[in-house]
Amino acid sequence: MANDKTLNVEVWRGAEDGRFESFEVPARDSQTVLDVVSHIQRHLDETLTYRFACRVGMCGSCAMTVNGRPRWTCRTHVSRVARNGRLTIAPLRNLPVIKDLACDMTPFFDKWQQARAVFDPSTTRDDPVAAITPDSPKRREASAAIECINCAVCYAACDSVTWNPDYLGPAALNRAWTLVNDQRDADQRARRAAIMSDAGCGNCHSHQSCTELCPNELNPTRSIAGLKRLAMKNLFGGEPS
Ligand code: FES
Repeated sequence: MANDKTLNVEVWRGAEDGRFESFEVPARDSQTVLDVVSHIQRHLDETLTYRFACRVGMCGSCAMTVNGRPRWTCRTHVSRVARNGRLTIAPLRNLPVIKDLACDMTPFFDKWQQARAVFDPSTTRDDPVAAITPDSPKRREASAAIECINCAVCYAACDSVTWNPDYLGPAALNRAWTLVNDQRDADQRARRAAIMSDAGCGNCHSHQSCTELCPNELNPTRSIAGLKRLAMKNLFGGEPS
């Protein structure tokens, strides 16, 4: 039974057909959800599997489902999310579960490739460095969406991915939007084909869960809206912007 000194924590164990297991964890000041998971692994069950690396919100590896919502656990304080001293911690939605809290991220990163969300240089290292005007409209669009840490919180939050597992998803399309606006990139034709495909931006229903939950306060819904405008221009023969 949890009290103000302990937390009652339900943790997913096993693969897709697993179950929740209960642990009692000491409550601490300024405790993060990752602290709770680490306490369980170090003191209660060393077989618990989970991922983390930086602990400071940089690497994106620690995302899990906490009381029903995807979160970066190293920057999520227990005091913000616990309900009556209770936490339920599960792997991210929309990805295969490997074991316990660790998902297989392969489909997530495969979709970055499918979306052509990878910089394709138009010059070589021997060419002069491209002059980029930081406050040009295109550069401002790219810069506003660039700070993604690949945590997959938006991907797990997206109902459109749940409904259509082929959908490229908010992270890959957000990155594609930064490259659409990058004048140095040479792969715009293939990228436009990807974002206009059956798996592309037309799947987004603008629910905005990605924007609500992005730990870096990015707005993938806005980026995808930009891609939709670009797709419409292409569809009706307008010059791509
Ligand atoms: Fe790196 Fe959380 S451990 S972002």
